[in-house]
Amino acid sequence: METKTPKQSFTTVTDMVLPSETNPLNNLFGGELLARMDRAASIAARRHCRRIVVTASVNHVAFNRMVPLGSVVTIEAQVTRAFKTSMEVHMDVWTEDRESGERTKANEAIYSFVAVDDTGQPVQVPAIHPESEEEKNRYDGALRRKQLSLVLAGKMKASEATELRALFED
Ligand SMILES: CC(C)(COP(=O)(O)OP(=O)(O)OC[C@H]1O[C@@H](n2cnc3c(N)ncnc32)[C@H](O)[C@@H]1OP(=O)(O)O)[C@@H](O)C(=O)NCCC(=O)NCCS
Repeated sequence: METKTPKQSFTTVTDMVLPSETNPLNNLFGGELLARMDRAASIAARRHCRRIVVTASVNHVAFNRMVPLGSVVTIEAQVTRAFKTSMEVHMDVWTEDRESGERTKANEAIYSFVAVDDTGQPVQVPAIHPESEEEKNRYDGALRRKQLSLVLAGKMKASEATELRALFED
């Protein structure tokens, strides 16, 4: 299977915030942003493996800034690491000033996806080769985040989470 780079999965999705997508403060509803990020991240995961992908977990979301009604929102998604059948996807969410066009980072998130066949059974994905320093840092942290996600989901014993243990032993 051909090794891919993170850039090959790079996905950008731009859309605006409509009244039906806001909370009582006229800011983007958190669940709407989660859904938009799920779509963007699943496209990135699909570009990496060219298979059907399903969301396995939402590992991290930071809603750092409110996103007001009418904002133009851009989600940038990229696979950070591929394991056997699963992939981690990192996302940055940007808003754009209407007049200057200047971009501000509003949120960040990390989701995990699993490639599956037509019957929903996990299938192998291509390996990934990080190139830039940022890509290498994200790649290095991905196993730790995967182990944390598996421990929280009750799919791995904490005593087996070697990367997590190493974090606390440093
Ligand atoms: C995700 C899913 C395919 C995993 O199935 P499973 O029976 O746990 O399969 P496996 O144990 O073989 O795990 C497959 C991969 O998923 C990973 N995985 C499973 N749960 C995970 C979690 N909570 N976080 C991160 N990775 C996870 C495993 O580590 C494994 O990765 P690897 O092969 O790269 O090492 C299955 O749980 C599923 O279909 N879930 C529903 C998905 C869905 O419908 N999503 C939309 C929600 S509305």
